[in-house]
Amino acid sequence: MALYSLLRPAIFALDAEKAHRLTIAALKLKPAGRPVAVDPVLATRVAGLDFPSPVGLAAGFDKDAEVFAPLLGLGFGFVEVGTLTPRPQAGNPKPRLFRLAEDEAVINRMGFNNGGQDAAAARLARRQPGGIVGINIGANKDSADRIADYAQGVRAMAPLADYLTVNISSPNTPGLRALQDKGALTELLAAVVEARGAGGPPIFLKVAPDLEPMDVQDIADVVIAQRLDALIVSNTTISRPPLRSRYAKEMGGLSGAPLKPLALKRLRDFRRATEGQVPLIAAGGIASGADAWARIKAGASLVQLYSALVFHGPGLVRRIAEELRDLAQREGFANIAEAVGSEERNDRLV
Ligand code: FNR
Repeated sequence: MALYSLLRPAIFALDAEKAHRLTIAALKLKPAGRPVAVDPVLATRVAGLDFPSPVGLAAGFDKDAEVFAPLLGLGFGFVEVGTLTPRPQAGNPKPRLFRLAEDEAVINRMGFNNGGQDAAAARLARRQPGGIVGINIGANKDSADRIADYAQGVRAMAPLADYLTVNISSPNTPGLRALQDKGALTELLAAVVEARGAGGPPIFLKVAPDLEPMDVQDIADVVIAQRLDALIVSNTTISRPPLRSRYAKEMGGLSGAPLKPLALKRLRDFRRATEGQVPLIAAGGIASGADAWARIKAGASLVQLYSALVFHGPGLVRRIAEELRDLAQREGFANIAEAVGSEERNDRLV
């Protein structure tokens, strides 16, 4: 943390995407470190997987699966690589990544820039045992059949993944979020589940926060009908809560602190709509143990973060885990699983 405080001004003086590339390069030099030690309060089983900690890294940071091992060594309970598309693609023209320092927020319109699934698969195939790595898959922008892209992604990446995430919620691939509509989603998830076949990894679906109540119920119904293993709530928002930064009007998805209230609200909506039948993974503006704890009590079994790392540095990961363990113990919970959705139970007592 002290080191990060010293380096932060230098990193922030760089263009945001250059700073990100430098961070990836630095992580490549870092010894992998040991994955998190198992702590009985934090260890939790979700979708048949044993997570040493419920605090994970959200997709988009390690798009090409280059640094998942050193990232696990920072203390994450799991790392989600991607989004990976079947074929490599360049993404949108630069600049396409903006740090909104005054708002502790990020706007990005990267557009699924990535080196493609084959290149990532070669790296993932050399993975050492230990640590949970999820693979987030998407469709190429110019694909004639996006559903086929997801099915292909499942076939290519399933053997290498602890879990797969079907990402249909990026605002930066035109038309992608239309796959959240009931008919299209049914077709997509049926194709994805079929492509996985028997014995494949669990499949998670990642949704946008920009949904109407009807959409939430439709998505929940399809996810339950297709027996998906978890829902990630949520991706970035195209909405613009009040922001102070000069980048506030940049197009793209907003993440970080200003997304927090909306992501929490959507999480509660999905908890209600799924009636606890599907594990939920919370993302959006989580920057402290208290933030993570609020999501767990609202129904999340796991949490993920990305933007807060930009502002608080890598020490944040272990800090959140420690705060989370203290909060659970202070409130009399033996472990994370016991606390999931506990705010509803409190409501009923009132
Ligand atoms: C993202 N996010 C993202 N999500 C995803 O499913 N696939 C992706 O490729 C990306 N790419 C991406 C790039 C950048 C620069 C950011 C900031 C975010 C979304 C991310 O995983 C997460 O859902 C949101 O950012 C909300 O969490 P935070 O950042 O508020 O903690």
